[in-house]
Formats: sequence, C-alpha cells, structure tokens
Amino acid sequence: MKKVQLTETVLRDANQSLMATRLPYKDYEGILADMDKAGYYSVECWGGATFDSCLRYLNEDPWERLRNLRKNLPNTRLQMLLRGQNLLGYKHYHDDVVEKFIELSIKNGIDVIRIFDALNDFRNIETALNATKKYATQRTIASGCISYTQSPVHTVEKYIEMCKELKRMGFDTICLKDMAGTMSPYEAEHLIKGIKDAIGDMTLILHTHCTTGMAYMTLTKAIESGIDVIDTATSCFSGGTSQPSTETMFYAFKQYGIDCGLDEEIINKVNDFFKPVKQKYIDNGQLNPKSLATDAQALVYKVPGGMLSNMIANLTDMHAMDKFDAALAEIPKVRADLGYPPLVTPLSQMVGNQAVTNVLVGERYKNISKEVKNYIKGEYGIAPAPIDKELSAKVLGDAQPVDCRDEDMKRTGEEFVAAREALGDLCRSEEDVMSYICYPDQTLKFLKDRKAQEENEAVYTIEEM
Ligand code: CO
Repeated sequence: MKKVQLTETVLRDANQSLMATRLPYKDYEGILADMDKAGYYSVECWGGATFDSCLRYLNEDPWERLRNLRKNLPNTRLQMLLRGQNLLGYKHYHDDVVEKFIELSIKNGIDVIRIFDALNDFRNIETALNATKKYATQRTIASGCISYTQSPVHTVEKYIEMCKELKRMGFDTICLKDMAGTMSPYEAEHLIKGIKDAIGDMTLILHTHCTTGMAYMTLTKAIESGIDVIDTATSCFSGGTSQPSTETMFYAFKQYGIDCGLDEEIINKVNDFFKPVKQKYIDNGQLNPKSLATDAQALVYKVPGGMLSNMIANLTDMHAMDKFDAALAEIPKVRADLGYPPLVTPLSQMVGNQAVTNVLVGERYKNISKEVKNYIKGEYGIAPAPIDKELSAKVLGDAQPVDCRDEDMKRTGEEFVAAREALGDLCRSEEDVMSYICYPDQTLKFLKDRKAQEENEAVYTIEEM
C-alpha cells in the first residue's frame, strides 16, 4: 500500500496564518497527550512567528513552551520552521549564534528543523544545516526547504536544480513551501514528478495553503505524482489562509487506498478540542473571519496568509483599511522592482510594508525602510532576478553591493557576548541570551517582568510565613 504521511500544523502555521500566532500554550496543553497518539509524521509547533509572539504578546518563554511540548509529546516528532541565517528574527546573525540556536533547539526538544532562505540563496542555510548535523540526535531530521513562488525566473528546471543542490548539501528531506497557496495542480504534477526523478527516494514534502482555494486539488495531484508527506491542519483550524484539513485528507486517503498512519478517532478528538478554542478567538476578534475565506486574488498578488492577516491588522490599527485594495495591488509591483523575491518572512513583511508605505505616502519609494535598503544592498543574499536599476541606484549611490557571506558576517563571539553582558543579572540561561539576540526589546521586557514577578512572589512567601 502506498504511504503518505501528514504533518499537523495547528500549533504553528494554522495558528500563525489564521490568528497571527496568538494562541497561548495553555489553550492547547490539554490535547497534547492525545495528539501524541495520533500518528502524525510530525507536529509543527515551534519556530516561524511563535517565538516572537510568545515574547511580544503572550508573556511566554518560547523555550519553556518547547520544553513543555517535548514533555507532553514524547513520541511525536516536534517540528520547527527556521529562517536559515535569520533564525527566527529578521536579520542575518553570525554563524556562532546560528549554531548555538540550533544546539539549544535540539537540546530543548526539536526533532525536525525545516530550514529555508527567503531568497533560496542556499549559502544562507548552510550554517544551520551543518549545526543541525553537528548536534543531531537519533531523531533529528534536517529538512531543506524551498520557498516556492512564480515569476519569469522561477521555472520547473530551476526548482529541480535547487532540489539537487539541497540533496548534495546533505539534507535528509526536501520540502516545497508554497506559502501563498499559489501552486496549481498542474504545476504540482510537473514539479513533483521532475523532482522525484532527480532526487530518487529522498523524502519530499509539500507545504501549501488554502488561500486561493487550490490546495486540495494541488494535494491530489501531488499525491498522484509521488509526494511523501503533506502538511494539514485539524479541520476547524484549516482552510482560508491555513492548510487543508487533516480529517478531510484522511477520508480521501482511505478511498485512495493510501495508508497515512493516523488514528481516526484521535484526529476527530483533536478537532473537537480545538472547536471552542477557535470560537473564543472569533468572539474576541483575534481570529478575523476574513482569513477563513478563499481569496483567488492571491493568485495575482502571491501573498501568503500570515502576510495578509498582518496587513489587515496593521491597516486596521492605522484606520486605513480603505487602502487595503490599493496596497494589495502595489505588492506585485514592489516585488518585481526587488527582483521577484518569494513572499515569505522576512521578505513578505518587507515587501508588504513597503507596498503599504508607498500607498499611504502617495509616492512610490519616497520612504524606503531600512530593511528594504539592506536587501537592495545585498545583505540578505542574491535576489532571484536583478533589482530595478533606478531603485538600486537610489539606495546604493556610489557604494558597491555587499556579500551576505563575507568575513564580517562570519565573525564569531561578539553578538553572544554582547547580548549576555547587556542582560546582566536578568540572564538565567543561554536560552535567555538567544531570545535577547533575536528580539532584544521584547526579551528585555519579558525578563524584567519575570524578575519582578519572582521578587513579588518571594515577598509574598515571606509575608505568609
Ligand atoms: Co506556511
């Protein structure tokens, strides 16, 4: 019997795509013991925006969340999404920081590290791969991930070359990450057949989103074309900007005669658990029903779900939702100017914010964000296609573009030491230092709150006695 396995995404990507990653750990702790018995290929539960969200909005230590997940899902592969040299932040970190982050991720419980670079500049995922291999346990899987997008320079041949390169680099599995849900069934068939021919029996994974309404058709073709693992979300957290539904795919698999190894009773129980959780966030407004709808416009704008929900949140905050359509229309123009970067973190935010700025200011590139300037300078890596000459000249002036992997970026020691010193007695662990390096302001606030809380508790205990 043919075998296709499923990765459950409700704790990470579904949470991120539908409700801007605001799901606190406590809200799903009660179902983890059951999820551990479901038979998933893996549970995606960490990385991506969860780390930032823990510190910024949820007053949670992301490392403690990971340790709790590990404790409650002892038999399940825990999966994270990592932005290569950017880790979980928005800039390139030094090699020793990347290595330490991966060492700690594995130590705290991660099994599968899905590593991507927004530009598919694989020099930016090499350090993370090497560190994963260095600290690997029996369970560790290094998954090389391709940011899928469409543009005049993103051809099937180009993707096959990328997969061969990932295999050559030493990754254990390969994932095609269609963050905007724009991969059509036709494209999936050609891509997957071509890639499987090129990489042999290496595990191939498809990650897509329902945003445009194509995901189920695309998965059907992917399965017929030889995909090994697909990403799905428990049904009440599926659809819209999230993944296709776990139970629906399970049902289809049965008719296909495909063994996916899931326990039907448990996956239904998981969904029953999450129904009231979802309702709570619809009621309090954190889950905008807009993100549950199908939006075929994304086929034009190539906008991933997380980016769409963030843009809605930002424009709502600025009372500028009337500019939503104009900002959406500006996105593909900015993207073309920047050499067709795939719209994935951090590029999705950079392109999205620049598009919003262009529309709100009323003049294109009158204000250019620091991040976009750095991108144009080359700090993020090589753009898939040349950047618009005029825009490039405006940012670079007489200066030369920089190499993201030059000696300066490889230097070691400084970032970590400086961060530890900056934290002083707030720091309890190497994990604290890593949090600070990724999100200094949020971590500082979090650690100060933690200290204040501990002191309060100490006073309270003494008084009681
Ligand atoms: Co995704």
